[in-house]
Amino acid sequence: MDRRTALATLGSAGLGLLAMHMPSFSADTPQNDLKAVPNFSEKSRERLLGLVKGSQFSGRLPAGDVKAICETDGKGVEQVMLELLPLAKTYSRPPISHYQVGTVAQGGGGDLYLGANMEFPGHSLGFSVHGEQSALSNAYMHEERGVSAIAVTAAPCGHCRQFMNELCPEIQVLVAGQKPEKLAALLPASFGPKDLGVSDLAFPVKEVNLGLPSAVSEGIISAALGAARKSYAPYTKAYSGVAIAMRSGRMFKGCYIENAAYNPSLPPLQTALAALVLAGEEYSGIADVVLVESAGSPISQRSVAEAVLSTIAPDVTLRVLAART
Ligand code: THU
Ligand code: ZN
Repeated sequence: MDRRTALATLGSAGLGLLAMHMPSFSADTPQNDLKAVPNFSEKSRERLLGLVKGSQFSGRLPAGDVKAICETDGKGVEQVMLELLPLAKTYSRPPISHYQVGTVAQGGGGDLYLGANMEFPGHSLGFSVHGEQSALSNAYMHEERGVSAIAVTAAPCGHCRQFMNELCPEIQVLVAGQKPEKLAALLPASFGPKDLGVSDLAFPVKEVNLGLPSAVSEGIISAALGAARKSYAPYTKAYSGVAIAMRSGRMFKGCYIENAAYNPSLPPLQTALAALVLAGEEYSGIADVVLVESAGSPISQRSVAEAVLSTIAPDVTLRVLAART
């Protein structure tokens, strides 16, 4: 039973029984979903759960809904972001650490973007996605104009500070019980894009002129090409994108998001998987995966994508297509 079916069909009497069959590392259970919004009024709770349980939910809470929740509950947006963290945490997938991170990013237009950490057993810890990367990549995939603030369940690590420094150096960081801090205060004397001569940052999302050698008729290939075109790779120019087709018919796209410090770069499969889990979907629903990447580049996303897929969707064979500018 997937998460949405469980949410839709179970009454409170069945919750304990279902929890017994859920893996212990995941908070992705109905009771947590209900517990996840404890600080909101009945009306706002209904609004929130209506959004996240919608069949087309994509990890984004539209500005209009955020405004309505703030007004109904008499709260400021920063408080709402902090109080949404338990909900964001329900999307985490940490089978190695069992440590759940939830994040909520605020876009320039007032939309909120959920984020959560993801880990992949059997491979390098370097393939993990931090909660902050998840929320920022979520905003990126929605072509947000920028990100002004992020609420996090615990202080962001150095890797995340570096990731944020690339995408939104002016961001404000909110951690419950601590005073809000600008990123510059958390990452003084930073290394960043300007050290490598880059001034055109990731937001707003731009498009590169990338094409495949032959005409594209398959939806999944044009989705992966679209993601590659919108990827951010100013250092290597190795543009890449992934599309994941689900058995349900949904498609998730992921852009490569590069970093001046290299290691915090987010591979395109990881971006697409963040979109998949934030939509409330399961890895078991993955039917087909395509990677499109620039030909003749100094790097390739193939090996990491194959490694991660071998863990979460071992029956799926990655298809890789080379594109040219
Ligand atoms: N983690 C985050 O998501 N954000 C941070 O800034 C700290 C660490 C995740 C990574 C890993 O999945 C788990 O927490 C333990 O480090
Ligand atoms: Zn981190």
